Amino acid sequence: MSKILVTGGSGFIGSHTIVELQQSGHDVVVVDNLSNSSPISLSRVEKITGKPVTFKKVDIRDRNGLDQVLSENPCDACIHFAGLKAVGESVEKPWEYYENNISGTLTLVDVLRNHGCKNIIFSSSATVYGDPVQIPITEECPKGQCTNPYGWTKSMLEQILMDMQKADNEWNVVLLRYFNPIGAHPSGTMGENPNGIPNNLMPYVTQVAIGKRPELGVFGNDYNTHDGTGVRDYIHVVDLARGHVYALQAIERKCGLAIYNLGTGHGYSVLDVVNAFEKVNGVKVPYSIKPRRAGDIATCYSDPAKAQRELGWKALYGIEEMCRDSWNWQRQNPNGYEQ
Ligand code: NAD
Ligand code: WQD
Repeated sequence: MSKILVTGGSGFIGSHTIVELQQSGHDVVVVDNLSNSSPISLSRVEKITGKPVTFKKVDIRDRNGLDQVLSENPCDACIHFAGLKAVGESVEKPWEYYENNISGTLTLVDVLRNHGCKNIIFSSSATVYGDPVQIPITEECPKGQCTNPYGWTKSMLEQILMDMQKADNEWNVVLLRYFNPIGAHPSGTMGENPNGIPNNLMPYVTQVAIGKRPELGVFGNDYNTHDGTGVRDYIHVVDLARGHVYALQAIERKCGLAIYNLGTGHGYSVLDVVNAFEKVNGVKVPYSIKPRRAGDIATCYSDPAKAQRELGWKALYGIEEMCRDSWNWQRQNPNGYEQ
């Protein structure tokens, strides 16, 4: 058993990961500034696991705050989710994204090393591959040109963490490149809770299905894909969460630097997702075709073999479970965590 500092732990992926961590015997300390989440997610975690979650409302740019948390709660490793993640907003507010994500991470890793905690798992993204030179994407695929400041923060932070690990091999750094996380906890009590109009496909689909929005706009049907709509590697958030527990085992084995794709290896188009959602849940999702969205690519899916080979991790859920659990969460919590 070990104690894990989870930054951004009340968010979508963080809260699901805490469930898996607690259920595999780890203790957690959560820091989050609640800029994009509700602490109610953590009470839902506690209900599922029956274990308390230590939560501190601290911004990762607050050196003294982090220092105090680690003084009171010495940790063996950090899983670093905290960051701003809205692609479009990052184009409008690049400074805010670089400042939050990069300054925040620089402060965090400095405080961590001052406390002798040199083990970190970082939430990276398939966005670092840009328009990928090969499909499926392996970890050897070169990083590409990001189309927005959010993506660049992930690419730059990967570089910063790699350089720190190279200079000081006491560090163990695991870069996890997530593909497209969707779904929700099968209990229906935890899920994605976007503010305002959703940017991502699945929360938009569920809000249309429940009648909050009249129809889904499908961004382009003239891509070079089987039905013309964009193809992505959707991964159930519980599978993604489990991946972090496996990554901790790599840290225990002193992995140095390790980079893994977390995806299923299957590509589904926008219309595949809509059709699966309608079929599994027996609800209609009206849609109309809209122009392409700036910065989108045609196809993006992973080769997840390295994570299976080296970590023993693979995704267990398919698109049906992703659609079922996303809908289950939306239906039981029409306003997310707001009562
Ligand atoms: P989320 O917004 O639900 O969670 C991020 C959490 O970080 C939020 O709770 C937010 O309040 C917190 N936070 C932001 N800035 C902070 C700061 N300065 N100090 C303390 N807390 C701060 O997002 P998520 O979907 O759970 O994503 C988690 C991580 O995974 C992010 O780093 C994101 O960029 C990355 N990621 C997400 C996706 C995705 O599609 N959801 C894909 C790839 C990578
Ligand atoms: C998926 C597909 C859209 C909404 C983004 C980030 C990426 C990562 C995951 C963090 C695309 C189409 C969407 C809608 C649609 N995040 N779509 N109508 O763009 O693959 O990835 O989230 O790291 O960095 O860029 O995900 O869910 O926005 O889109 O037709 O209303 O659905 O065009 O083909 P994306 P997404």
